Amino acid sequence: MNFGDPLKYLESVAEDFFATNICVYETANILLKDERFNFWSGSSLPHQHHYGTRGLVQHTAETVNLCLSIGMKYEWEGISYPVLFLASLFHDSGKMYDYECVNGFWQGTEHKRMIHHISRSGIYWNDAVKTVPDAYEMYFEQVLHCILSHHTSRIQGSPVAPKSREAWILTLCDNISARINDADTNDLLKNK
Ligand SMILES: [Fe+2]
Ligand SMILES: [Fe+2]
Repeated sequence: MNFGDPLKYLESVAEDFFATNICVYETANILLKDERFNFWSGSSLPHQHHYGTRGLVQHTAETVNLCLSIGMKYEWEGISYPVLFLASLFHDSGKMYDYECVNGFWQGTEHKRMIHHISRSGIYWNDAVKTVPDAYEMYFEQVLHCILSHHTSRIQGSPVAPKSREAWILTLCDNISARINDADTNDLLKNK
């Protein structure tokens, strides 16, 4: 999926909220201005999806784009665009604690084993949205639910399964971004 620069794409989506819903713009910018976000890997192993520098921002841009596209198709169902955007933007923010770059190679951290990015993304979201009272009041719990359920089931690491429409859209679109990237990076497929 090609957006040009993935960070610029995400910034442009956030700016679309500036005139109509400034608290969404302000909350989004907390992550968008975190310097780690534009640098971090999306995984700790080369065969896992979105491995490597800037993998996280690329995966996030793909997931946001897919979520908003699907949300648009179901517009009449009353799906919340702010919830979809904020949930897809923050869903993997905790990965900035799960991986580290050592001598040019990305690897897993102790945090990944002890806390894991799903919980950390919820904490990161909590810390960010608390600084924007309007967003906290309107979106805190709906977005937290989407973040915590984005791995679909307890067996796949989520403490709760998706219950809302936005949460289902996020987990499915997250999977599309990840699996399409798997197809692109899978050596077995490449060698066929
Ligand atoms: Fe995730
Ligand atoms: Fe993800």
